[in-house]
Amino acid sequence: MNLWSSLTDRLRRIGRRQVPVWFESSASVIDEFQTIGKKLRILKIIPNPFPFYDWIMGFYERPSNREALRGPMLERARKILDVGAGTGYLLSRLVRATGEEQEIVAVDLSRQMLMNSRSYLSKHGQLTERIVFKQADCQSLPWEENTFDLYVSSYLFDLLPEQELRNALKEMERVLVPDGYAILITMTTELNGLPLYKKIFYRIMNEIYCIGYQNGRWNPIWRFLFAGYAPHCRPITLGSYLRELDNMAMAYTKLSRVSLFPVRIYYVRKTHG
Ligand SMILES: C[S@@+](CC[C@H](N)C(=O)[O-])C[C@H]1O[C@@H](n2cnc3c(N)ncnc32)[C@H](O)[C@@H]1O
Repeated sequence: MNLWSSLTDRLRRIGRRQVPVWFESSASVIDEFQTIGKKLRILKIIPNPFPFYDWIMGFYERPSNREALRGPMLERARKILDVGAGTGYLLSRLVRATGEEQEIVAVDLSRQMLMNSRSYLSKHGQLTERIVFKQADCQSLPWEENTFDLYVSSYLFDLLPEQELRNALKEMERVLVPDGYAILITMTTELNGLPLYKKIFYRIMNEIYCIGYQNGRWNPIWRFLFAGYAPHCRPITLGSYLRELDNMAMAYTKLSRVSLFPVRIYYVRKTHG
């Protein structure tokens, strides 16, 4: 009986666990973003591996980024913040989906990544005065409370250690205006609402991902797949952290995917408190 219950317990946990990050803090991981690609021997001969990184990561992340930027909150927002802008793909979609009267601020802790997103926009003829770039930590944003109508972030929260994730969400709540929205994209362990066969498939995929993640630093297959960049994002239960906030209400969520791994897109509204 005990053996049976421990077996069923193990089965129940497959694909549901949130593994801890293997680095200490997001500040320490920024180094990794500064030197992306340099770790893959073949890329060392390329002077600028970032477009390649963008292409590789884009292959995985673009469909969910595209899917997320929908809804009336996008048109209504005057001031928009994109946190963890990275190579600038989501930022570029934001620019495309908004008008001249809407201001967009792109934030990243890595100066190198900010330079990449700037040159991505420049390459696509999207660099105008309404786009501002700012190097900052998502845990302490240099703006007053109630500043932004829309907070957008993709594949940032799922690379943060737990305490940083909580800090970043609190900071998001602080800088948003009441009735402002956040659109957040993360790899996910939250598979509610899916048909059973999909749930089982995604749980198995999450489990495989987490095994690779924990050994990601050294695993040659992962190194190859991610262009020498040890993968940082891992599936998390963002919904449970969002529910800890006093003034954020979940409006809607939908499921997407990054390659064969599940991703959830959250639309969250700041209440009047
Ligand atoms: C996986 S990339 C996501 C990039 C982009 N949002 C996308 O979907 O393509 C994560 C980005 O978050 C940035 N980042 C990591 N920790 C951060 C922090 N504490 N504050 C702000 N940005 C951070 C990294 O430098 C990196 O550019």
